[in-house]
This record gives sequence, structure tokens and C-alpha cells, in this order.
Amino acid sequence: MKVTFFSTKPYDKEHFDKINKEFHFKLDYYETHLGPHIVNVIEKSDAVCAFVNDKLNADVLEVLASKGVKYIAMRCAGFNNVDLDAAKRLGLRVCRVPAYSPQAVAEHAMALILTLNRKTNKAYNRVREQNFSLNGLTGFNIHGKTVGIVGTGNIGQAFYDVISGFGCRVIAYDVYENPRLVKAGVEYLPLEEVFAQSDIISLHCPLMESTHHMINKDSIKHMKKGVMIVNTSRGGLIDTKAVIHGLKYKHIGHLGIDVYEQEEKLFFRDLSHTIIEDDTIQLLMSFPNVVVTAHQAFLTREALEEIAITTLTNLQHFQKGEEFENKAALLV
Ligand code: NAI
Repeated sequence: MKVTFFSTKPYDKEHFDKINKEFHFKLDYYETHLGPHIVNVIEKSDAVCAFVNDKLNADVLEVLASKGVKYIAMRCAGFNNVDLDAAKRLGLRVCRVPAYSPQAVAEHAMALILTLNRKTNKAYNRVREQNFSLNGLTGFNIHGKTVGIVGTGNIGQAFYDVISGFGCRVIAYDVYENPRLVKAGVEYLPLEEVFAQSDIISLHCPLMESTHHMINKDSIKHMKKGVMIVNTSRGGLIDTKAVIHGLKYKHIGHLGIDVYEQEEKLFFRDLSHTIIEDDTIQLLMSFPNVVVTAHQAFLTREALEEIAITTLTNLQHFQKGEEFENKAALLV
């Protein structure tokens, strides 16, 4: 089977090449994003392997199907960038990696919280400049605070395991309660209550029509003054202009984001020698109480290896016409 990869980075190639020694597929790597600009020039292929910022809309899928592509293997958990109805109509089978390392993402959410709170990013720079002053570095104890988890699936649950060690009250919102967390004493509340009662809010639900801009001007108004918001899920959960307003008027105390609404034009690239035309991210990055990372929450050795194993196993199932063991991996 020939598999054409998009948005390939050296770390993807390293792990896929290693795992592919057991599968013997032909892997063709493109660095570019998949989208209307490139889809016409790609060669005939059995499968396409894409990532979070690739665009698999109806037009792109139509061209892929016309080039003989039968399978779309998303090497990520989210699939908001794939038009599943169009895929179904075109007879394309679509799979994903539902859970490669929930701990990797949960641990990164915790890293953002600790960086924002204890300002280790600033301390690091100060000490390098022989500035040993502590002024402006005061944080708060997480112990005793209320932490709200929105979305308690694989990652939300792993995040609970990490944060619960800090001795805080954990509340949650999800459309389905997670029995393990209920048993552990997590209190499920309506979303507005989670927003209103939390000192720290961590987002772990998927991006869908119903969750788009769940953090907006109105929901921010009902949050505690000084709230910390952390988003390692998808940029579209947050109305960026609304959080900028909230930060400017000091209603939001800290913001940590690993994902950003317009990230596909920025993230995963070195733009250090270019002028960034996105004024919104520039403004966001100018706040001293904001930390932005470029969609790296998944980036651990364990996660990359698991992504490669699951993706190639999914494709092997397709090739052999087998039923998937892991049903959640099969989207269409
Ligand atoms: P999951 O499917 O295991 O859990 C998602 C949870 O969200 C489920 O419990 C579901 O019931 C809940 N949910 C659905 N609709 C909701 C709503 N309207 N409000 C609140 N909760 C709702 O997914 P998993 O593995 O925990 O991943 C969560 C998200 O994390 C993914 O959708 C993806 O966007 C993001 N992600 C980010 C990564 C990164 O590197 N930054 C890496 C992997 C995933």
C-alpha cells in the first residue's frame, strides 16, 4: 500500500519509518499541508495520512478519491478538519488515533498551569541575566483551589490524575459523566457553574458546533476575577478576541494555550525571520500573563511511537478488510 503523508516533520518521519519496518508500506512524505493548493499535484496513492491543520473538505476529498485514494488515516485524535459526510459519500474510509497518550497532553496542560502560576519562564530569563530579584514572581498555591475540567474523556481523565495530586477541589462538565471520576469524588456541574466556581479551567472537549467559542464574552463575564484558562484541546473553543478583552480588563488572570483559532498559518513552522501579519496572536503574545505553545502537548516519544503504531495498524485493517478492534478509531 502506498501512503502519502502531509504536514510531515522530522519527528514524524523518524517514528513512522521505524514502525513501518514491520508493515512494509510505501511511505511518501510531503512537508506541506494538505489543502486545495496541493491536492491536484499529488501522485496516485492508496491512502493519505494527515494531521490537525490539514484541510480535508469536500473539494479536497473529491480530488483524492479521483486519484485512487481509498483510505484517510488521521494521525491525531481530533477530526474536526475532515468532512466526514463527504468522505462517506465518496466511499472513503476514515480512521484516526483516538488515544495515543492522553498523559502527554494532560502533563502539558499542567506544565502550562505551573509556568503561568510560578512564572518559571520569567525566572529562567532573569537568572540568565544575573537578575536574582523575585519581584513580580509571586504565584498562588494550587492546593485548596477549585479546578474545573471541561470534557472528561481520555485526556480530561488523565488531567484529573495529575491535578488531583495538588490537593484541590475538582469539578467537571461533560455531556456524559465519567464513572471513574464520579467514584473519585469529582463533582459534575452545569457548564456555567464550572465556569463560575473555578480558579483554573482546563479545556479537554472536542471542537464541534456546540463547543465552538464556549469561552466567549458572556461566559467570561460569569467567571471568577483572576481566573486561569488553559486550552490544550482546539483553538476554536475560545473566542480569542473575547479573551483578549478579558485579559485587558484583568478579568482573566492567566491564559495558557497550546492551540489557537488561526494556528494553521503559524504553528509547526519557524517564522522567526518573517513579519507575522496576524495582529491577534501578536497582541495575545504581548501579555505578560499569557503563555502560548505551538500545539506541542502531544509531543512525547511515547506518543509519537503510539501514533505511528496505531495509524499503520488502522491502515492494515483497512487493507485486509478487517473489522477494527478499536471502534473509536474508525470514523467512516
Ligand atoms: P475523548 O473523546 O476521549 O474525550 C472528549 C470528551 O469530551 C468526552 O468525554 C465527551 O463526552 C466530551 N464532550 C463532548 N461534547 C462535549 C461538550 N459539548 N462539552 C463538554 N464535553 C464534551 O477525547 P480526548 O482524547 O480526551 O481528546 C480531547 C481533545 O483534545 C480532542 O478532541 C483534541 O481536540 C484535543 N487534543 C489535543 C492535542 C494537543 O496536542 N494539543 C492532542 C490530542 C488531542
